[in-house]
Amino acid sequence: MRIREATVDDRAAILRIARASFDRVYAFFAVRGTQHARPFLVAEDGLSIAGFLEGILFRGTPPIGYVYFLAVDPGARGKGSGRALVQESLRIFRSRGADRVFAAVTEDNDPSMRLFASLGFERVARRVLWRWYRWRGLSVQMRMLLAPHEVLLMRTFTDLPPASPQEASRAS
Ligand SMILES: CC(C)(COP(=O)(O)OP(=O)(O)OC[C@H]1O[C@@H](n2cnc3c(N)ncnc32)[C@H](O)[C@@H]1OP(=O)(O)O)[C@@H](O)C(=O)NCCC(=O)NCCS
Repeated sequence: MRIREATVDDRAAILRIARASFDRVYAFFAVRGTQHARPFLVAEDGLSIAGFLEGILFRGTPPIGYVYFLAVDPGARGKGSGRALVQESLRIFRSRGADRVFAAVTEDNDPSMRLFASLGFERVARRVLWRWYRWRGLSVQMRMLLAPHEVLLMRTFTDLPPASPQEASRAS
């Protein structure tokens, strides 16, 4: 399995996986989000697309990462694609200078909660996001990302040395 940047050729597979993974509303926003996602990653298993991840990097000092949508084809789940997608997004966010990454998950979504927990994400109060939002002057869009029934998860990079200036400039 390989994680790479998504291309326009992946669109049909992403649409199919989004529809198989989310309700209509989420699937709509997942497909719409592909236009601006960065990083925008797919997991490629042989010739087929196993899953995708949409991230957002909010510019600030330092920037903040957000895992916006993550989905794996129901037939390809349980083989490590979800974990590999999130791991690669963490590497990219960090290399672009982010010191923390947020994700929003519905509380009853056990696979997703466990996946993020296994990668060092912890549940934080929703107000953390609002506080961050105000301090950093982030876009109003950030408010829109967290639905009322979702819990906020956060992973910091305090356990890792900051990205070197060379690494950050290579990634931007
Ligand atoms: C959540 C999701 C992306 C996981 O993808 P995946 O490729 O099956 O996950 P992985 O195989 O990489 O599993 C990684 C970890 O996630 C957890 N996990 C995955 N599937 C699980 C399940 N059915 N039950 C419990 N934990 C599960 C485990 O901790 C697992 O680690 P382990 O294998 O060492 O136990 C996938 O289930 C999915 O697409 N769900 C629908 C869409 C969704 O809910 N997206 C997330 C919110 S945007």
